[in-house]
Amino acid sequence: MKFTVTSERPGNVKTGCVILGVYEHRTLSPAAAEFDNTTDGLLKKALKDGDMDGISGQTLMLHQPDGAKCERVMLVGCGKTGEFNLRSYQQAARSAALTVNASGADDAVSYLAELEVSERTSYQKVRTLVEEAHSVAYTPDALKSKKDKSLRPIRRLVISVDNADKASARKALADGEAIASGVELARTLGDLPGNICTPSYLADQARELGKSSEKLKVSVMSEAGMEKLGMGSLLSVSRGSRQPAKLITLKYDGGKAGVKPVALVGKGVTFDSGGISIKPGAAMDEMKYDMCGAASVLGTLKACIAMKLPINVVGIIPATENLPDGDASKPGDIVTSMSGQTIEILNTDAEGRLILCDALTYCGKYKPAAVIDIATLTGACVVALGSHAAGLLSNNDELANELLLAGEAADDRAWHMPLWEEYQPQLKSNFADMANIGGREAGTITAACFLSRFTEKYHWAHLDIAGVAWKGGDEKGATGRPVSLLTQFLIDRATG
Ligand code: BES
Ligand code: MN
Ligand code: ZN
Repeated sequence: MKFTVTSERPGNVKTGCVILGVYEHRTLSPAAAEFDNTTDGLLKKALKDGDMDGISGQTLMLHQPDGAKCERVMLVGCGKTGEFNLRSYQQAARSAALTVNASGADDAVSYLAELEVSERTSYQKVRTLVEEAHSVAYTPDALKSKKDKSLRPIRRLVISVDNADKASARKALADGEAIASGVELARTLGDLPGNICTPSYLADQARELGKSSEKLKVSVMSEAGMEKLGMGSLLSVSRGSRQPAKLITLKYDGGKAGVKPVALVGKGVTFDSGGISIKPGAAMDEMKYDMCGAASVLGTLKACIAMKLPINVVGIIPATENLPDGDASKPGDIVTSMSGQTIEILNTDAEGRLILCDALTYCGKYKPAAVIDIATLTGACVVALGSHAAGLLSNNDELANELLLAGEAADDRAWHMPLWEEYQPQLKSNFADMANIGGREAGTITAACFLSRFTEKYHWAHLDIAGVAWKGGDEKGATGRPVSLLTQFLIDRATG
């Protein structure tokens, strides 16, 4: 899909579809009122006839409007005037993109970036339009032998902005496309089944990404390398699998040499059966999404490359399967992590922390300015926060706040949870330095407590994305979250 900006007025523009906003109680936006004037009151008449009110998310398509040069005009409901905010704007952008794609139009000119939205700049509005247009065009049909021919996304979206905003709008187009390409990569990888998206496949994808930029260096460590470094915890998870584990490192040197990097560590369990502590059968297929943390690291780096972001980033992905086998870890087994700390594996289904702890220790060698791990870590996080916010836990409040703000700005939110000392005793083991589970209470927090024992040497934050990385049910599919949050965080760091 191609994106450009324009300042042509809606009545004059030649296109498959003009997209205009309408507020509740049939209140035309300024651009819609202009269009209405050139078409002799066409819009007011349609609204008066009761075809639409302007409720958030509604759309109305009118064909061959007399007096204008477009083939269609689409009205998009924006809700109550004055209440138009970030989220309702995103909803309007989304409905508009869905409806225009379902029409026969080849291209469209959108006037939605001209709408007044509280606390949103023109740059942000344009980015939302681009990101939503990309997002609705994604279909997880890579493995369908017959593609759905009724899906015909528009090929070109032109976005109207004030002349004064044109430069920032062009930047927003480029950034929006960069982020959308990262989100799309994360979704594509997430949606792939476990028999295709294996640890080796993730490593190949990382190498592919490496080919796209001089600034990205990719290396892949084998199990023998992990053995040498003493990663007994990571290796204990892959014991039960015939697919060898991989530790993938992606080094993006976009910033000045010698400036400390931000490290992103993504959980890459390409299928989580639970291991010997096997999971129940219902929805077990969704455990192919247990590598969405890894996918978000790859997606974020892809966006960094596309934006040529002036920052140093290291991506680290411990990738493995978690399967039951005669050689798999058993409850009660004790392993030694790279840090030297011993761990009693009381539940083999708490495998994410077992692979992350060694990756987090390893990551110390890059002397990171900050480390963020991203993991579909606990079912408890889905219970606590549902599918709206990622869980955020950190050993540094400033870093946590930066991430919260980035999430707000990118509309990819996280919620801060406590990481108090009081929770640590839940990890006590009679036989090892710690257990890998902390009992029934506060499962998301005790999982983070476990990780915190491996991150004392640097500023660290943990994003539990179990609730946000994919949707179940009829709309089952990866969301690409939290690529937007992470990219926004890096943009903010890079630009000070
Ligand atoms: N990958 C799962 C977490 C998960 C479960 C994410 C359901 C999304 C939906 C993780 O490896 C896991 O199994 N965690 C256990 C931990 C428990 C054994 C302490 C869980 O949450 O049940
Ligand atoms: Mn598990
Ligand atoms: Zn898991």
